[in-house]
Amino acid sequence: LHPVQTAFLENDGFQCGYCTPGQICAAVALLDEVQNGSVSYVTSDLNNPPTLTSLSESEIKERMSGNLCRCGAYNGIVAAVQQTIEQTPVAEIENSQGG
Ligand code: FES
Repeated sequence: LHPVQTAFLENDGFQCGYCTPGQICAAVALLDEVQNGSVSYVTSDLNNPPTLTSLSESEIKERMSGNLCRCGAYNGIVAAVQQTIEQTPVAEIENSQGG
């Protein structure tokens, strides 16, 4: 499994699973965007974008906000993204994304 998929399983990042493929794709894209220095709507300093290690919960929520979860599994989804960042070496994240 991709580290994001494992984190979703370990953090109850889904209930019915209807939104899960999109949430996981969004989470993987989030990791890629942050590594590329992209800013979000809630980034306070546009000249100093967050890194994976400095990514706040509000940044994760904003960057994941394009996908709705009718089951309200948002707490688990945010926890899964946080766990992926905390437990996965950056090189492994980069390799899992093909870059
Ligand atoms: S897990 Fe059911 S819609 Fe998200």
